[in-house]
Amino acid sequence: MFEHQIEKIRSKNVVFAIMGMGYVGLPLAVAAAEAGIRVIGYDVSQEKVNHLLNLNSYIEDIPKKRLKTLIASGSLFPTTDDSYLEEADVISICVPTPLGKMHEPDISCIKSAVETIKKHLHKGQLIILESTTYPGTTREVVMKAVEEKEFQTGKDVFVAFSPERVDPGNKQFTIENTVKIVGGATPDCTALAATFYRLFIKDVYEVSSPEVAEMSKLLENIFRAVNIALVNELMLLCDRMGISVWEVIEAAATKPFGFMKFLPGPGLGGHCIPVDPFYLSWKARQYDFWTEFIELSGRVSENIPYFVVEKAYKTLNEHGKCLKNATILILGLSYKKDVGDTRHSPALKIISILKQEGANIKVNDPYVEGREPELEGIEKVELTEEIVREADLVLLITDHGAYDYQWIAENAKLIIDTRNAFKNIAESLKGKIKLI
Ligand SMILES: NC(=O)c1ccc[n+]([C@@H]2O[C@H](COP(=O)([O-])OP(=O)(O)OC[C@H]3O[C@@H](n4cnc5c(N)ncnc54)[C@H](O)[C@@H]3O)[C@@H](O)[C@H]2O)c1
Repeated sequence: MFEHQIEKIRSKNVVFAIMGMGYVGLPLAVAAAEAGIRVIGYDVSQEKVNHLLNLNSYIEDIPKKRLKTLIASGSLFPTTDDSYLEEADVISICVPTPLGKMHEPDISCIKSAVETIKKHLHKGQLIILESTTYPGTTREVVMKAVEEKEFQTGKDVFVAFSPERVDPGNKQFTIENTVKIVGGATPDCTALAATFYRLFIKDVYEVSSPEVAEMSKLLENIFRAVNIALVNELMLLCDRMGISVWEVIEAAATKPFGFMKFLPGPGLGGHCIPVDPFYLSWKARQYDFWTEFIELSGRVSENIPYFVVEKAYKTLNEHGKCLKNATILILGLSYKKDVGDTRHSPALKIISILKQEGANIKVNDPYVEGREPELEGIEKVELTEEIVREADLVLLITDHGAYDYQWIAENAKLIIDTRNAFKNIAESLKGKIKLI
């Protein structure tokens, strides 16, 4: 079976099904389809599939033009009909892995995707889990399902974990030129998955097990979470000491070795960094182990939006204004530059706190429609001269490339800049700006 499947993959004559057409699944589908692989884009959301069929890309990195070519030619076939999984040689699972109410992993989407696959599972299929999760999930959920169907993993059906490293909005590193890690349940599973990804990804790095691959993804994200929390804590101290944390970081970054630059900001955001570390801390408890760095960095980062609000209140106070009834124009709602993803965005938390304090809030984000429940009753505005001039305070949360920072600074009364986005504006305007 292995020899047959590896030859089939090498010949590129395979059907690749992706479960979940979101931020991860859609770019993966496009990359594979553009390399000449036939892709089935399966999603439980009819709305998402309709968008794709109508050529409406909801992901900034995938322009309509790319989508159109692939969908028109049938290379990418979006569907909610799981019977098409029957045709698949390789199935990749790219479904959400959020946290539950008590910060525990919620792998219900993985489980339901696996149940769907199980209905159509047949000999020769390769199932790759790509959703970020705690070490052990591939064996405990995917392999278990395979074996419940009385297939032998590594003989009849092949199973691997391969973490998704896509960085939405990143123009330099894409799926195709970012090394793909692969850890199979057996050496044959690894070989098959690695051979498959090599069809459209430049470098594939094989590890000895799914657990190593699962843990490596968590290490990457925990590394970021801890370092972001570290610079954010230093930002709080520098603020109290009257030192510019931005200048400190630029100075430290001149060291050509042993230092890596992380920047402070309004708080952690996105679907990954604030979430994934807690998958590991939860799993660690089963081993009677406390992951102190994860808990600590979580605590530091959770408090940053409160610091931003305190900064707003103090800045207004210095100018004889009070936060209650002040008009605050928020620029940027997404968790990072040039994307429209507001999941766990600090902007939403900052808006909730400001609302409680009685501020009059207006928001602008060129990438976000603003249908989030936190934005109910909040005025979404175009960025006009009048709107900027009227605001008592402009609070820059996300440093989108589309903003004209010089123009904003010329028209605003006061600005709080949480990203050092105004660093290149005219010296004469810098007096209006407070950096966090
Ligand atoms: N967004 C990122 O930048 C990023 C980067 C690396 C890794 N990841 C990880 O990748 C995974 C997916 O994240 P995402 O950002 O693409 O999520 P997303 O919410 O953008 O997309 C997930 C899609 O899966 C669909 N879905 C849910 N249950 C399903 C099921 N049972 N069968 C088929 N489809 C189903 C949803 O309708 C949705 O369209 C998560 O584990 C995440 O942690 C995300």
